[in-house]
Amino acid sequence: MDFFDAVNKRRSVRRFTDTPVPESVMRKCLKASVLAANSSNLQPWEFYWIRDEEKKKKIVKRCFSQNAAKTAKEIVVSVSRIDTWKRNRNMIIEEHLKKGKLHPLVDKYYNTLIPLAYTHDRFGIFGIFKRIFYIFFSIVGFFRPIQRGPIYKHQLFESVTKTTALACQNFMMALVAEGFDSCPMEGFDEKKVKKLLNLNWQCHVVMIFGIGEAEEGGVYAERFRIDDDLVIKEV
Ligand SMILES: Cc1cc2nc3c(=O)[nH]c(=O)nc-3n(C[C@H](O)[C@H](O)[C@H](O)COP(=O)(O)O)c2cc1C
Repeated sequence: MDFFDAVNKRRSVRRFTDTPVPESVMRKCLKASVLAANSSNLQPWEFYWIRDEEKKKKIVKRCFSQNAAKTAKEIVVSVSRIDTWKRNRNMIIEEHLKKGKLHPLVDKYYNTLIPLAYTHDRFGIFGIFKRIFYIFFSIVGFFRPIQRGPIYKHQLFESVTKTTALACQNFMMALVAEGFDSCPMEGFDEKKVKKLLNLNWQCHVVMIFGIGEAEEGGVYAERFRIDDDLVIKEV
């Protein structure tokens, strides 16, 4: 399928047919999602494909039983994490080392800058220290462009969630390419979803996907987008 046809074909589907989604399709699309561009290649995402029927029922309830969840043949929960950076960073470094010596720039990036950006604590105390550091550092910013964050925990969450959203888009597009449909949802009780999946405070549920084949009338309305000139700027 032509890329632009796929972009046009992807719609948020709220009612799905009874056609099952083959396991192979699910695996292929999940694999495509984690090929997304991501900040510093730290891959701070997780995708929970809900296979257990009981869990699935509970997730539907936690999505307020909206049709997109209730009629979905498969459900996937996408999660961003601020606590996997060290593990993933170490694996990146190992991969570099397997291929030879660690380049000094890579070393500095992953062993100094990344810990500075990603170290955090539950109560945001580290963020306050970082803020003080950045006040001094911002003097440099008068003379040249500087990296000004992330400083606080919520900015870290913004970063990992931004990256995870790209993987989510890959996932939806991959489903279209395979002839299936989805609906991304943020209408859910995050606290209860996290509890069900055993997710800690360092996780954020980004979107939950209802997946299947679109039923006739399963897309509720014609696609509407506001005028391009309101959102696409040439400056
Ligand atoms: C982050 C996000 C959350 C969404 N949450 C819901 C939701 O809870 N329920 C729903 O029916 N649609 C949800 N949608 C679908 C949007 O309503 C839909 O993408 C939008 O109206 C544009 O329509 P289209 O996807 O068909 O182009 C969500 C979409 C995104 C990206």
